Amino acid sequence: MLSELQQRPPDPILGLSVKFKADDNPQKIDLGPGIYKDEHGNTPVLACVKAAEKHRLDTETSKTYISSAGSALFNQKIEQLNLAEHRVIEQNRVRTVSTPGGTGALRIAGELINTARAGTTIWVSNPTWANHQGVFTAAGLNVKTYPYYDYDNKCLDFEGMLAVLKQVPGSDAVLFHACCHNPSGMDLNAQQWQQIAELAKDIGFLPVIDMAYQGFGSGLDEDAYGLRLMADVVDEMIYCSSCSKNFGLYRERIGACSVIACDSEAADRVASVLMPTVRVNYSMPPAHGAAIVETILSSEELTLAWHSELAMMRDRISDMRQLLVEKLKQQGVTQDFGFITRQNGMFSFLGISPEQVQRLMDEYSVYIVGSSRINVAAVSSDNVEYLTRSIASVLNG
Ligand code: LMR
Repeated sequence: MLSELQQRPPDPILGLSVKFKADDNPQKIDLGPGIYKDEHGNTPVLACVKAAEKHRLDTETSKTYISSAGSALFNQKIEQLNLAEHRVIEQNRVRTVSTPGGTGALRIAGELINTARAGTTIWVSNPTWANHQGVFTAAGLNVKTYPYYDYDNKCLDFEGMLAVLKQVPGSDAVLFHACCHNPSGMDLNAQQWQQIAELAKDIGFLPVIDMAYQGFGSGLDEDAYGLRLMADVVDEMIYCSSCSKNFGLYRERIGACSVIACDSEAADRVASVLMPTVRVNYSMPPAHGAAIVETILSSEELTLAWHSELAMMRDRISDMRQLLVEKLKQQGVTQDFGFITRQNGMFSFLGISPEQVQRLMDEYSVYIVGSSRINVAAVSSDNVEYLTRSIASVLNG
């Protein structure tokens, strides 16, 4: 049976890391997967995480099962982080399960929607994270796209987006990125969020918000603006959050799927479906990452330390956006890359051709996703010279 399986291509993002590891060029640069790196190319364990881990090591008394929903304290803390003092919490309308990363949250969200209405269509932005389509299809949903990024003008195609979303049936779901849009770095502004939220309310489609980068754009509250506004306006929605990037807990796999229902009875029914959905997938989420996050968020001192480490990462990414654009100019590149400084979070498209992407990899050992998405968080003052020289050579012939 298994010999009948057909070879599949490597993952468009994770596959790059395999190639990168095998490359022996000492100047190689990996701008593929969205992983934060410091000035020296390391992905550090945050000091607040180390402190929380030490605390857990000293105080943990059992490794027994917790629950399919994960730790209740983590779920409460993450809701507060995402929603702040939102009235939907007070109204007892939110139910959260912790999940294996943000991807696990998306899968649970997809399955929940599919249980409510089998084969629901979910609309995702064009472009979107390369894994969205696969995750939702695997959950049984039908995936369609709405316009989002204007590749020619390197900005948001809000008119195009709105025109298509106006036609979406009320029985469908629509996925939005809360902030730091992956892969384009183009986010909705406050007024655009308002229009989208009103549209969701009028038409009745289910908003699903992916918030994988809270704190990496403008700040923890600023990045949750759209999510909180949507929760103000609509009766029900789902959102998925992740602690991979903002807590640097990539391999611990900790995220959350939160559902806001129209009232507390409906929320209880949702929870009764969430639990068996988790049970048949992985029974229970891993606990270590959740324990770290709840320890940090339960301590004023560790929370402050986390805020400052997060701000450091965010500021470094924003500095690298400026530096990249300056250095490209200095290398004699005449195209305008200024748009990179107007985008948010880890990613931007360079806007170069697939052949140029391939040449960057083959000739210069610079690894970026085939769509020309770069992880700006992996640019540093150490590698920016070589990087921009390589891009300039590829652009100039
Ligand atoms: C990315 O988009 O690079 C990250 O979210 C990592 C991943 O899992 O794809």
